[in-house]
This record gives sequence, structure tokens and C-alpha cells, in this order.
Amino acid sequence: MVFTTLVLLLLLTLVPIFFLFRRNKYNGQLPPGLLGLPVIGQSLSLLNALKADKVEKWFQERIARHGPVWKANLFGYPTVVLHGPTANKFVYTCDGNILTNTQPPSISRILGSKNIIELSGNVHRRVRAALVSFLKLEVLKQYVAKVDEEVQHHLLTHWHGKQTVEVQPLIKILTFNIICSLLFGIERGPKREKMLPLFQDMIEGVLSIPINLPFTKFNRGVIARKKLEPMLLNLIHEKRKAIEEQNQQEDTHKDLITSLLSIRDDDSSTMMSEEEIIDNIIVVMVAGYDTTSTLLTFLVRLLATNKSIYSTIVQEQQEITSNKACDQEALTWEDLTKMKYTWKVANELMRIHPPVTLSFRRAQQDLEYEGFIIPKGWQVLISSSMTHMDGSIFQNPTAFDPSRYEKHAPPPPFSYVPFGGGARICPGMELAKVETLVMMHRLLSGFTWELLKKDEYFKRLPMPEFDQGLLVRVKPLKENHVI
Ligand code: HEM
Repeated sequence: MVFTTLVLLLLLTLVPIFFLFRRNKYNGQLPPGLLGLPVIGQSLSLLNALKADKVEKWFQERIARHGPVWKANLFGYPTVVLHGPTANKFVYTCDGNILTNTQPPSISRILGSKNIIELSGNVHRRVRAALVSFLKLEVLKQYVAKVDEEVQHHLLTHWHGKQTVEVQPLIKILTFNIICSLLFGIERGPKREKMLPLFQDMIEGVLSIPINLPFTKFNRGVIARKKLEPMLLNLIHEKRKAIEEQNQQEDTHKDLITSLLSIRDDDSSTMMSEEEIIDNIIVVMVAGYDTTSTLLTFLVRLLATNKSIYSTIVQEQQEITSNKACDQEALTWEDLTKMKYTWKVANELMRIHPPVTLSFRRAQQDLEYEGFIIPKGWQVLISSSMTHMDGSIFQNPTAFDPSRYEKHAPPPPFSYVPFGGGARICPGMELAKVETLVMMHRLLSGFTWELLKKDEYFKRLPMPEFDQGLLVRVKPLKENHVI
């Protein structure tokens, strides 16, 4: 442990010195801006801006000073920060071997070195193809009723009969349950209940300061991963056995794990190893847990405060209910395609509060962008918050206006990027849409709610976290209502 800490300290000292030496090589070609103190640089001020949800102000001030390309020292690395749709396109479409998505070693210690976020080039393409084979729309369409069943059960257990509800932590449990059921085939019961706290510890570990000492969040995350590995391995073995026994057809997707186990390379060998499957199950859970729940939490808050949007959405949802034989009849993909206004509202929310606000890459060779050099080893950072709030792209950017997404006036390419873009565009975006629309339909058909704290604030850590989990008072629409 002491040795690890010493090595870490040594690295933190040597890396900036190395970069300082290299800086001279690029005299005059580096972007404007100050690197500031080694290691710390502007990290604390960016972290403070994130916490206060003022990240676009943080960017705007620096763009006003330096222009759309500047340098800073962030989270231990010299970084070139880029702004604008051209910059987004440059980062999202750059060859993945040149601008890699490498995460700090502390993160891969919890998420695993073979998770999709770590990979680049052909290996990334192979793992991504495997994930997308299940997460693509044509497949997900068949699972709308399954998501609906989880949502209805969730509302019955956690909302019905309650006077107050802490929305955000509960919706996180919902997204965990949907991913467990739909993607991993883990149905309700003790297995799921045992896994939930371990996943929560892992996610906290990933987002914490990476000090591996007893009782730190990071340490708890590392331990949780160790405990989860054998559980996930057992699950993989159970599913492999089931595939062999039932002689399943390749195109019968029962869940993501079964699908990953069934995918074969050209030479008929299994496309993904058990280690790869474990790392990617973990990353899918981490990537899908906080993101969709953030969007849903903001939707619940918006609908409690904006009466005009509330009544338009309710009208759209009532039309869907009116075509059903009874309230409980399962939703279908057809129903979701009719929720056009609801999805526009969700899109506008993701413009103003994108769940993922920063995207980092690392240059594997010297690169040129707009006449500046991005040296090998430096980080590159773009922020969706900044592009989304740019008045030259979105007129009157602080106004909440779902009509921005009308077909006749879609935002220009690479300017609206809540799900990223290019080869790494979020593979879970269709699932996020299904989860969001189903939950909105069931919530609005079953309940009304009001905020208990009108000005409950949230911090970005880096995901938005409401101070009291977004506390609401709920009322069922029908007494003795059974969803
Ligand atoms: C509203 C919900 C969601 C939002 C806003 C969101 C946003 C994003 C963004 C911005 C990226 C790209 C990051 C970058 O390029 O640096 C990404 C990647 C990713 N997302 Fe999502 N996501 C959401 C839901 C989900 C869900 C439900 C899943 C899983 C089922 C998921 C799985 C992933 C994975 C695996 C990646 C990495 C892809 C790769 O590196 O090729 N996301 N997401």
C-alpha cells in the first residue's frame, strides 16, 4: 500500500516535469492559456464549477479570454480544451487509435481493462458490434413490454401508497432493475438484491478520489468489483449451459449476456471471452445507471414546475391510454412512437442538463487542430454543456423550447450531442429512450406530484445529485389505483 502511494506521488511529480520539458519543443504552436500549477492546475476551479452547475460559465469565461481552443492543466494532465461543433466533430470522428479514450488506471481497476470505454481501433469495433447487436432498436422494440412490467412493479412498490418520494435514488434503482432484467436476465429476487449495493459501491468508487486505503470509497469500489466477479462468472456459466441445453438459435436474443455468448467470429469461435463479457457487463451497468436516471429525475422536476409542458405531455399520454383496453395493458413500440412531444421535452432537458457534460480523450501522437499543436500524451476535452448553451447555435439558449427539435429546423450536426457522436456514440441511447418514455407514461397515468422543496439544488459530482434526492409529495390519480 505504502509502495503504491509512493509510486503514485512519484508519477504525479514526474509527469508534469516531463510535459514541461516537451512544451518547449512546440514553441508558439501550443494554444493560448496557462497550464498553472503542476498536477492541480485548474482542476479545482473546474470541479467547483461542476458542483455549482456552472460549467458552461467556466467555459464561457475562458473562451472569451483565449478563443475556442486553449490549454489548461486538468486532473494531472496538460489538456487542450476545444469548443464548437467543428471541435466536437474532430474529437468524435478522429481515428480511435490517435485520440484514445484511455481512462486513468484507477478507473480501469474497477471497470476492468477490457471494457469498451478503454478499447480502441478494431478491438473497440468488435466489442461495440457485440453490444449493439442487442441494444439496437430492432431488438429493443421487442422488449418494451418487459421494461413496462419493471416500471409498473417499481411504481407499485416504491410510489404507490407513499406520501413523499425521493425521486432520484428510487429512479436509480429502477434503471438498475431494468438493466438487470433486460440485459443480464437477472429477475427480481435475492441475486439482484445482493448485486445492487455492490454496483453502487463500484460506481461511487469510479467517481471518487483514487486512494486505495481501507474505508475510502475507491477501496470499497475495488472490493465490490472483486465480490461481483465470481457472481457474474456464475451467471455467464448458467447462461452458457442454458444455451447448450436449449440449443438456442443465434437470433433469439434472450438478454445481452446470452446474446454476447452466442455471437461467433468468422471461424465460429466465441467472439468475446468471459473476461471481456464481465468487464462489459459492468461498464454497461455503470454507463446506464446514473445517466437515464438523471434525465428522468429532471423530467419529474420540470413537470412539477412547468404547467404548460405538463398539460401538453399529459394530453399526449392520455391519447395513448384511451386506445388501451385497460390501464394495465402493456405498452408497445407503436405506443412509444406516438410520444413525440414527450421525447422532444426530454431532448430539450438533455440540452440544458446533459447527463454527461465532459468528454476526455488522449492524443497518442502530435495532432494539429486549427493551426495549433496538440502534443502527444496531452488530454483533449470537449463539453456538451458548452455547445448546447452557445447562443450562436441555439437561439435564446436559456429558454426551454422543445420545438427546437421540429423536423424542419433540427440543430446543425455535432452541435446537439447529449449522446456523444461518431464511433463512440452512446450504444444505450435507444434503451434510454424506451426507459424514459415508458416511465413517463406510467408516472403521468398514475400520479400527480409537487416538489417539497421548490429550490432543491443539485451538485454535479460529476453526475447531477439532488441535495435531498428530489423530494416530492405524490398523490395517486385514482384512489385504490392499481397500476
Ligand atoms: C440518457 C441516458 C444516456 C446518456 C445521456 C448517455 C450519454 C453517453 C455519452 C455522451 C457517451 C459518449 C461519451 C464519450 O464519447 O466520451 C456514452 C457512451 C456510452 N454509453 Fe451512454 N448514455 C445514456 C444511457 C446509456 C445506457 C442506458 C447505456 C447502457 C445500456 C449506455 C451505455 C454506454 C456505453 C457502453 C458507452 C461507451 C460507448 C463506446 O465507448 O463505444 N448509455 N453515453
